[in-house]
Amino acid sequence: MFPISRYRRLRQNEAIRSLVRENTLSPNDFLVPIFVVEGKNIKQEIASMPGYFRLSLDNLDKEIRELWQMGLKSVLLFVKVDDALKDNEGKEALNPEGLMQRAIKTVKNAVPDMLVMTDVALDPFSIYGHDGIVRDGKIINDETVSALAKMSISHAQAGADFVAPSDMMDGRILGIRQALDAQNLIDTGIMSYSAKYASAFYGPFRDALDSAPGFGDKKTYQMDFSNRVEAVKETQADIEEGADIVMVKPGLCYLDIVRDIKNSVQVPIAVYQVSGEYAMLKAAAERGWLDHDAVMLEQLIAIKRAGADIIASYFAKEAVRLI
Ligand code: PBG
Repeated sequence: MFPISRYRRLRQNEAIRSLVRENTLSPNDFLVPIFVVEGKNIKQEIASMPGYFRLSLDNLDKEIRELWQMGLKSVLLFVKVDDALKDNEGKEALNPEGLMQRAIKTVKNAVPDMLVMTDVALDPFSIYGHDGIVRDGKIINDETVSALAKMSISHAQAGADFVAPSDMMDGRILGIRQALDAQNLIDTGIMSYSAKYASAFYGPFRDALDSAPGFGDKKTYQMDFSNRVEAVKETQADIEEGADIVMVKPGLCYLDIVRDIKNSVQVPIAVYQVSGEYAMLKAAAERGWLDHDAVMLEQLIAIKRAGADIIASYFAKEAVRLI
């Protein structure tokens, strides 16, 4: 009690502050999302994500080498699919020569030790922009799970280390695990987007991939952001179904959920700081309203402090340059 206790003793200078600091960032914390497009020598800035780009495979090769040199050792791949290749079932997602499959190989050729995780969901391949197969205006669960299981096998066969289902269909982790095991792809891991909320923060990402839902919204599969209990329940269910890593998404507005899950499960937790979170800080910093680097690091540490073992973030490179 004061005056015997004086908390400012542990804050007097940077030396003592760094000695008692509970959380720090390192390149090992980050998973780098990457958007891939067809073409040659393409590096298109995403309008709503300043400083973030869609890359063609040749530029992907360069990017992977650069990331590796910076100590960034894991990537999460997304592809922008040509409209002509979209359908309701996501058939193009199974093409062994598809963009995702070539992107996986490009990464592994550039840096064989780079860990490759791939997005598994139908939305970039869907004429409806939904994460599942659509019938009579509804997103059909079980048929979608079969499609996602096939997609996962295709990614694993192309060389993906982990598949990352981001669709929120029920039972897809079990479906994917059984399908991979049946092909003897026993070492392919699953990072489940286990607590993914129906969020308006995904807007810029949907611009990046041209994947916005053509009708309705994603509220029948992604979680209601008013809820907390189901996040823990679904995450536990995904672990029972075989998820190696679980995820909370988005990040900043959902740190209570991260802590709830951290306190109730024993697998690594990833947090996805999503496109809208990136866009907000870029916009405020452009106007000179926020100190970009300081706010970025504060947000990333907050995500870690909440319980993240892995942070998927568009800020990964910028953060690593500062730390
Ligand atoms: C799609 C997917 C989305 C994101 C990752 N995978 C968008 C969505 O669910 O509509 C969002 C990522 C971001 O906003 O950065 N399955």
